[in-house]
Amino acid sequence: MLLDEMISDDAKVMKSSLIRQLTGLVNQPDVISFATGSPNAEMFPHEQLTEIFNDLVAAEKGKLFQYSVTRGNADLIEAVRERNARVHGIEATTEETILVSGSQQGLDFIARVLLDPGDAVFVELPSYIGATASFENFRARMIGVNKTAAGMDLDDLRTKIRQARAEGSTPKLIYVIPNFQNPSGHTWDLATREALIEVARQENVLIVEDDAYGEVYFSGDDPEILKPIKSHEGSDNVIYMSTFSKVLAPGLRVAWIVGPKEIVRRIELAKETGDLCTSTLSQKLILEYLRRDWLDSHMAEVRGFYETKCILMQAALEKHMSSLAKWNRPQGGLFLWVELIEQIDTLPLLHQAVERERVAFIPGQPFFVDGSGSNTLRLSFSNVSDDNIDLGLEKISRLIAQAAR
Ligand SMILES: Cc1ncc(COP(=O)(O)O)c(C=O)c1O
Repeated sequence: MLLDEMISDDAKVMKSSLIRQLTGLVNQPDVISFATGSPNAEMFPHEQLTEIFNDLVAAEKGKLFQYSVTRGNADLIEAVRERNARVHGIEATTEETILVSGSQQGLDFIARVLLDPGDAVFVELPSYIGATASFENFRARMIGVNKTAAGMDLDDLRTKIRQARAEGSTPKLIYVIPNFQNPSGHTWDLATREALIEVARQENVLIVEDDAYGEVYFSGDDPEILKPIKSHEGSDNVIYMSTFSKVLAPGLRVAWIVGPKEIVRRIELAKETGDLCTSTLSQKLILEYLRRDWLDSHMAEVRGFYETKCILMQAALEKHMSSLAKWNRPQGGLFLWVELIEQIDTLPLLHQAVERERVAFIPGQPFFVDGSGSNTLRLSFSNVSDDNIDLGLEKISRLIAQAAR
């Protein structure tokens, strides 16, 4: 049997991201890795989660391991709604809220529910690969939009929406990460958030706002700036998503989506066949964590942990890289973005870095849907020990200096 002929057209376009392919290379035990973008496992509240787990098993017995409803545990949905309103200024009804098994699943369902082949999706340059891959899997036409210091370049967005429409594509989604973006660590200002709602309304396109890192802000931020687009006036054209992955632990696989109820209902239908339900155990662990009111003090610790690492990284960059590159000063999240002054391709540089210096980063180009960005790289400060930050950046700088000669 010719198995290739059996593969569906949708599956034929699926491909593994370059980052996944690089996992083996960058995660070797003796390599100082600025590549690993996962939250640091030291920050997972495992003692508190163990305590809750033991209490839940005693109280619920087998029920803890049973299937649950597709849309998510009703009490957890209420707790998420309450926290969304109190912390993020997002008011939404129960019908507008659904829990999913990670925001990655949410992205897949959003793509499944909204995209037909050839529909245009607009993303930042650079953007999160997990999202662009989800949209590409449904054969969307990916269009990169330039960035300014304030966020997405809305003039460029408007031009590209109109151009896509003139070329016969239906502009469907604008996917954005306004807080401490993965990969760039960049944050949008308030005016750009508000203006995006208006552009999307005028051009009849939906916004997907991914707020995976919104709670991981460092001290000194103005909370008004961080308010999601979804909390602003007139944001009924916004599908908002966030996750417990960066505040508690990604292995729990629980996230949430808030959007127009007609779309949330379709996502629920996709979820019925996607997984029946999100893990009952994970949802109950999180619900109890919120009920015991542990999240706020835990987050204070998480923020301090990453901020310390980010400050150390800034100092090491100043020391070793100031004549070689430009970089940003993230106000939160796990990532920092570096643009080399010389046109050096960072993909071959990564191979040299691992082979010669036992240090790793992620080359920037895979985050650009237009194929640009080859002289950029993403540095994550989440999993490097404080002591290795300076050493690792000294090594990377040495390679860049050699390549620049
Ligand atoms: C911007 C962004 N969105 C979504 C995700 C996926 O998160 P989750 O663990 O909720 O699936 C990630 C993970 O790194 C991310 O960086």
